[in-house]
Amino acid sequence: MCGIVAAVCGSRDVRADVLAGLKTLEYRGYDSAGMAVLHDGAIEIRRKMGKIANLEKELQENQLPSSTQAIAHTRWATHGPPADRNAHPHCDDRKDLVIVHNGIIENYLELRQELTDCGHAFSTDTDTEILANLIAMYMRQGQDLHGAVRAALEAASGSYGLVAMAAAEPGVLVVARMDSPLVIGVGEFGRFAASDMPALLHLTREFLILENGETAVLKSDSHQLFDKSGAPIERDLYHCNWSPEEAERGGYPHFMLKEIYEQPAVLARTAFDRCNDQKGDIEFELEFGLSQDDLRSIKRLRFMAMGTSQNSALIGQQMLAELARIPGETLNASEFLYSPELEEDNALTVVVSQSGETADTLRAMREVQRRGGKVLGICNVQGSTLAREADHLVLTHCGPEIGVASTKAFFGQVTALYLLAIHIGRANSTLDAAAGRKLIEDLRHLRVNLDASFRPEVSEQIAAAAKYLATVKSCLFLGRSLQHPVALEGALKLKEISYIHAEGYPAGEMKHGPIALIDENFPVVALATTGRTYQKMLSNIQEVRARSGKVVVIAASGDSVARDASDFMIEVPEVPELLAPLITIIPLQLLSYQVALLLERDIDQPRNLAKSVTVE
Ligand code: M6R
Repeated sequence: MCGIVAAVCGSRDVRADVLAGLKTLEYRGYDSAGMAVLHDGAIEIRRKMGKIANLEKELQENQLPSSTQAIAHTRWATHGPPADRNAHPHCDDRKDLVIVHNGIIENYLELRQELTDCGHAFSTDTDTEILANLIAMYMRQGQDLHGAVRAALEAASGSYGLVAMAAAEPGVLVVARMDSPLVIGVGEFGRFAASDMPALLHLTREFLILENGETAVLKSDSHQLFDKSGAPIERDLYHCNWSPEEAERGGYPHFMLKEIYEQPAVLARTAFDRCNDQKGDIEFELEFGLSQDDLRSIKRLRFMAMGTSQNSALIGQQMLAELARIPGETLNASEFLYSPELEEDNALTVVVSQSGETADTLRAMREVQRRGGKVLGICNVQGSTLAREADHLVLTHCGPEIGVASTKAFFGQVTALYLLAIHIGRANSTLDAAAGRKLIEDLRHLRVNLDASFRPEVSEQIAAAAKYLATVKSCLFLGRSLQHPVALEGALKLKEISYIHAEGYPAGEMKHGPIALIDENFPVVALATTGRTYQKMLSNIQEVRARSGKVVVIAASGDSVARDASDFMIEVPEVPELLAPLITIIPLQLLSYQVALLLERDIDQPRNLAKSVTVE
C-alpha cells in the first residue's frame, strides 16, 4: 500500500537519497507519487499520478530546489481517485507545513467540517489534507510542530504512519505511528524515516521501530522518541541484517522470478541452521520461549493468516495434526473477529504473515490476546509488528520479499511449519528421535530434488502449459490433502499476476458443483503426485477429460499413467508426501509467471494489489 520515505541531514542534499528509497517501495503497489522539500523557508512539492517514473520526469522538467530535508510518498488511493492533486505530500492551505501519511483518518468528514467552519479551504479529496490543516491550525495557536502533530492526532481517529515538516521549523521532521508501520533510520549523516526498512538500506542498517501511539522528533544529528502521553522515551537501536543487494533484482527480469529461484537457499536458511542432526531435534530461536512443558500442554491449534500465508497455514495445520497429533483449524484472519469467544485454555494460535504488518492479521492476533490466548507468530520480517507483539516467534529468514506475488515466503512458512510440527511432535513424544531424524533427512534430500525443478526439460513443459493457459479465461486448480492448499495457492498466483480467473478446490468437491464449468475452454490444473490421494486424483482427471476439459497435470517424473492422462504434463521429483507441497508449488509459481509474461502483465506490481495490506 502507501509508502513513505523521509530524510533530514546536516549538509547533504537528500533529494536523490529520498527518491532512491521511494523506488525500493514501488513493489508495495501504488497509483501516484510525490516529494516535498524545504528550501529557504519555503515548501516546494512535486506530485504525479502513475509510476515513480512520471514523478522523475516531472522532477527533471520542474526541478525541486536542493534541500537537506525531504519527504516523499507513494499513494494507494483510499479517499479520492488517483490524480495528481490527490497524490501526497499534502500541505495546509497556507503552505506552512507539509505531510505524508499512510493509513486512514476515519473522522475526516467531521474534521473537515470543523476546519471549513474555521475558514480552511481544501483542494484535494484526501483525508490527509484535513490532517495537514489541523496540524497547521494548532501551530498557529502557538504549538511547535511536534505539539501540533500530537494535538491533531489526538483529535483524529484512525490509522497513520506520518511524517511532517514545517516552514517555521527547518531541520526538523516529526513522525508518528498508529497501526501503520513506521521506522526511523539512524545514519552517519542524518536521520531518516520510512514505512519499510528496505527503503532505507542504502542509507543505514540501524533502526528504531516506532510503536503505536508514539511520536518522534528527528534532526540531522539527533532523535527523540515520545510515548503516547508525550513523555520522552529511550529505545535501543535495531540492526537490520538484510543487505541492500538482497532488496535488488540481481540480474533477474522480475523480483518474482528471482524470489522463485531463491527457494533452495530459503530452505537452507529457514531449516538447516536450526537442525541438530545428532539429536534429530530442531532448535528454534523462539524469541519468547515456549518450554517443553508449554509445548506438551497444547491440545488445540488455531492458524490464522491472509492470502498466501493462509494457504501455508492450511498445510501447517495438516502437518501438525500428522506429526504432533494436535487438532487444528485454519481461519481467515479477517473473519476471526466475528467468531464466538471460546475457551483459550491449552490452545495456541499460530499467526502466519510474511510482512508481519497485515492489518487483518494483526487485528486477529490482538483479539486472540485480548481473549486471553497465546500467539506464536511465523514471520519473515524481524522487527515487524507481528514479530514484536506475538507471544512467541519463529522467523522464516527468507530475506526481503519484494514481488507482490508471494513465493519464497510461502516456501519459508511451509518449511518452518514442518519444523514446528517435528519440534512439537518430539516434545509431546508423538515422534521419537529416530522419526525426527528421518524427517530432517527427508528435508535434506529435498534440497537436492529442488534443483530438478529448474531443469531445462521442466522449463519447457511449463512453457508449453503456459502458452496454452495464456489463451483461456478461467481455470480450476485441484488437489487433495496437502496438495489442496497448494491448489489454492496455484490459483491465487495465477489470478494475481495474469488476471486470469482461477479457483482452487479440493478435488473431491469438483463433482459437487465446479464440474458444471468444464468444457473444451475451461481447463484444470491437477496435482497428482504419488501418495494416498494419487488414485483419486487420476479419477478426477479422467472426469475432466470425459467432459472435453484440458488438463495440466503436475506429477512425478516418469509417471506414464499421469502423462497419458494429461494434455500437458509437468514433472516433479518424487518426494515424501509431507514435503510434496514444497516441490509442487515451484512449477505452479513458474507457470503463473510464464503466463503473466506472455500476457505482458506487470508481474511485480499487479494492478490493484499491494504487497503489504495495512488497512482492513
Ligand atoms: O504479509 P502477509 O503474509 O501477511 O500477507 C498476506 C497476504 O496479503 C499476501 O499473502 C497476499 O495474498 C499476496 N499477494 C499473495 O501473493
